[in-house]
Amino acid sequence: MTKTDTGNFATLGQEIMTRIEILALHTEQEGKMTRTYLTAAHRGAARQIAAWMSEAGMDVREDAVGNVIGRYEGTDPCCASLMTGSHFDTVRDGGKYDGPLGILLPIACVGDWNRQGRRFPFPIEVIAFCEEEGVRFNAPLLGSRAIAGSFETAVLENVDDNGVSMREAMISEGLNPAQLGAAAMPEGDIAAYLEVHIEQGPVLLEENLALGVVTAISGSSRFILELQGTAGHAGTVPMASRHDALMAGAEIALYIEKRCNESPGLVGTIGQLNVTNGAGNVIPGHVVMSIDIRADKDSIRKLAVDDIQTEIENICIRRGIRKNLEQTYEAASVACAKWLQQRLKESMQRHGCTPRSLPSGAGHDGIIIAEIAPMAMLFVRCGNGGTSHNPGETMSAEDAAIASQVFADFVEHFSMANPT
Ligand code: GLV
Ligand code: MN
Ligand code: MN
Repeated sequence: MTKTDTGNFATLGQEIMTRIEILALHTEQEGKMTRTYLTAAHRGAARQIAAWMSEAGMDVREDAVGNVIGRYEGTDPCCASLMTGSHFDTVRDGGKYDGPLGILLPIACVGDWNRQGRRFPFPIEVIAFCEEEGVRFNAPLLGSRAIAGSFETAVLENVDDNGVSMREAMISEGLNPAQLGAAAMPEGDIAAYLEVHIEQGPVLLEENLALGVVTAISGSSRFILELQGTAGHAGTVPMASRHDALMAGAEIALYIEKRCNESPGLVGTIGQLNVTNGAGNVIPGHVVMSIDIRADKDSIRKLAVDDIQTEIENICIRRGIRKNLEQTYEAASVACAKWLQQRLKESMQRHGCTPRSLPSGAGHDGIIIAEIAPMAMLFVRCGNGGTSHNPGETMSAEDAAIASQVFADFVEHFSMANPT
């Protein structure tokens, strides 16, 4: 078999970067990268990805949740597949690389193997996961959950900001929620899952390294907190008589910041805070806020969540506020398969890369796919100080090229033999 040369990977790196720009044109907000589940922009991106998969020599299908799946058939019909991919939804006003890199990079490599007439014993499946961020319906990882058979149908009733339910959105886009169970892939069908993803942090950048091998994906606990105080006139109600829902939320937010500062590796975020019917001259009566707590160690996260719940209780009692705390997500930290980490390090070393290992603070589809297959992740250096979930997110074509080379090497050396 011919090994693809380095110059060719420079071309693939350029192709990946060009396609990331083209995919970014599928956005809900002109001049911003916003592509949430089942919007017109999202459906357009799915069609574009399917076209690229098909052009790369893959058989393409869409499953009931809206994942786009490209299969590059192997030569041995008994072999389980090597699965790779990432998500193509985004946060609002986010970056172009978070997700699409892990879809477009393997498509570029498969296209290259296809041009060479090269096949492997095992099939390669590239999955463009339709939803990971959880933005539109406040439910993350929908695509990978459908594949793993752990999609919770209760979320079909979640509604977006316009009151459209997930179920309605699926039906209006020609997807059949009744068929969600059929999207699940049987456990033995996937030999391994490898996701390529931009690091979304500064570690590799600061160490001048293009690539890193992920050791584990941090767990997280997410909540929606509703605070019910008493709305009133901003000019007439004395400070001591107020039951201000926003001030209670602010005190809770500052407690979360203080508590999370106490443990390295523990992080807490209030990413949404809405004052219902807010106006400059009205004391906020009702507030809804999100809470996201993460840590690489589950015990540290759980202790923090316990403390935060106690403090929410205390603050609400003291301020005369009624509350409703609803947990929307809970995930334990998930370790990447040791034998896949080792194979990735070997591939990196064969191409002159230091085999740096690091944990992932961000969540990824791999956390769910690990329920049905050994899972690994290859991180690619993030530019601009490691900025992500921000339009300033960036990476270089050179890093896309070296990541393609290491990914291709991993695939070319992949077999299930002797996993240690
Ligand atoms: C996804 O990007 C997450 O970590 O929430
Ligand atoms: Mn991502
Ligand atoms: Mn993200």
